[in-house]
Amino acid sequence: MTGFASAADRAAFIASLPKAELHLHIEGSLEPEMMFALAKRNGVTLAFDSVEAIRAAYEFSNLQDFLDIYYQGMAVLLKEQDFYDLTAAYLARAAADSVRHVEIFFDPQGHTERGVAFADVVGGISRALADAEKRGITSRLIMCFLRHLPEADAEATLTQALPHLHLIDGVGLDSSEVGHPPEKFARVFARARGLGLKIVAHAGEEGPPDYVWQALDVLKVDRIDHGNRALEDAALVQRIVTDGLTLTVCPLSNLKLCVVKDLAGHPLRRMLAAGLKATVNSDDPAYFGGYVNANFIAVANALDLTREEIITLARNSFAGSFLDADAQARHLAAIDACIAN
Ligand code: HPA
Ligand code: ZN
Repeated sequence: MTGFASAADRAAFIASLPKAELHLHIEGSLEPEMMFALAKRNGVTLAFDSVEAIRAAYEFSNLQDFLDIYYQGMAVLLKEQDFYDLTAAYLARAAADSVRHVEIFFDPQGHTERGVAFADVVGGISRALADAEKRGITSRLIMCFLRHLPEADAEATLTQALPHLHLIDGVGLDSSEVGHPPEKFARVFARARGLGLKIVAHAGEEGPPDYVWQALDVLKVDRIDHGNRALEDAALVQRIVTDGLTLTVCPLSNLKLCVVKDLAGHPLRRMLAAGLKATVNSDDPAYFGGYVNANFIAVANALDLTREEIITLARNSFAGSFLDADAQARHLAAIDACIAN
């Protein structure tokens, strides 16, 4: 135990530390209990007959295994109020984990293709984010394109988003990575950049280092989601360090999707040692077994992370956020105040 008297001490320190969460798919925070409640409210039939049966189905051997169940689960989300309730439940969990700022992904194509109005999706999520802001949690909203679908569908989605751009801060790229390289979306990301949106992309979760290069050189990302496989290419690591880009790392997701064999083999410490600005995030907490503090605690225990490494991860979360410099400085000062106690 480095720098802590016990694992319980380290967990308490992590729990109290102010932090931002930068990699969270709001649809991936749909807990089985809420899935059941919304199915009932909306008259949707589920493939499972109990909460236990749903949880028992959450055994994945790769990203696609998970995505098949994830898209099934979101079928219960139909009304603006459903998106509000989903987002409010996540924000309550985040607040309990000392999260002060969130940057949330949503997958509009997972809903509009089922006939849900784009305005209801973005409206419900944004209304919950606005309510949370009154209670002190700030946020940004990032619209993801589903990379297994054609670029033309992403273009149509960006066009649908135009009347709502006052609520949307950035665009991202998620879903099945291998076989769907970033360059497939070069045009739609260029258009999004021209609209002043921030740019992020999942890259190097299962895909090769070349996909991370493409995220940098073709999409011109402001941040990289996951990025684990960047470590296979020393020149790529150097490039990310030089550019000062943040990686949004998701330890329990990596474990559940078999990106790593066990958390003791997780590359988080190697990332920090290489000078990469890594952060810790929950990705799809309802499916992967824990929210942000659970991710911090699991990886800190497995790697025996030091107090300094944990503080660096929390600092990176604000420094890598899309908050302005003043807000970042306030949050970093709050970390200083917390660790001084
Ligand atoms: N990777 C890719 N797509 C996703 C994920 C993920 O971890 N979660 C939700 N969509
Ligand atoms: Zn993700």
